Amino acid sequence: MCQGKAAAMGETKAMTKRQLHRAMSAVILLCSALVSGCAADEAPLPVGNAANGKALAEARCSTCHALDADVASPHADAPPFPLLNQRVVIENLAEALAEGIGVGHRDMPEFVFEPSEIDDILAYLESVQVMPAPSR
Ligand code: HEC
Repeated sequence: MCQGKAAAMGETKAMTKRQLHRAMSAVILLCSALVSGCAADEAPLPVGNAANGKALAEARCSTCHALDADVASPHADAPPFPLLNQRVVIENLAEALAEGIGVGHRDMPEFVFEPSEIDDILAYLESVQVMPAPSR
């Protein structure tokens, strides 16, 4: 779009060199503003924001899973999140969450998460484990 405009201006024979220069500068400024604007919009979220992951877990998981180790889960079968690494390898959950499958159990609903949300949830889950993962 920027190129098109610049070309159109090049054809305006009546413009003085000075006017043309001014117009071109404006176009260049506009183009670079647009480019940097886009870049800002598309900047990826920081990978694995545990605070955001906690907010997601509170909103989407805490109806069944306890978020604290010393509290019983609302759903009796759902492991409290701080004990999760005793059952699963947390890194391995990324794929399951990405596919929106109900991480392999009947009562758990299917979720669909953005990749950045999955990073956040995993960062959060990793950050709250109270015990080292058992050696497998
Ligand atoms: C409607 C209730 C419910 C919700 C909501 C829920 N879960 Fe679960 N989840 C369960 C139950 C019940 C189990 C245990 C199932 C079993 O042992 O078969 C479980 C187990 C798990 C496990 C262990 C899986 C395994 O193989 O042992 C993980 C990981 C997990 N949930 C993650 C999550 C995450 C992350 C969320 C939120 C995005 C979530 N759950 C939301 C009910 C739920």
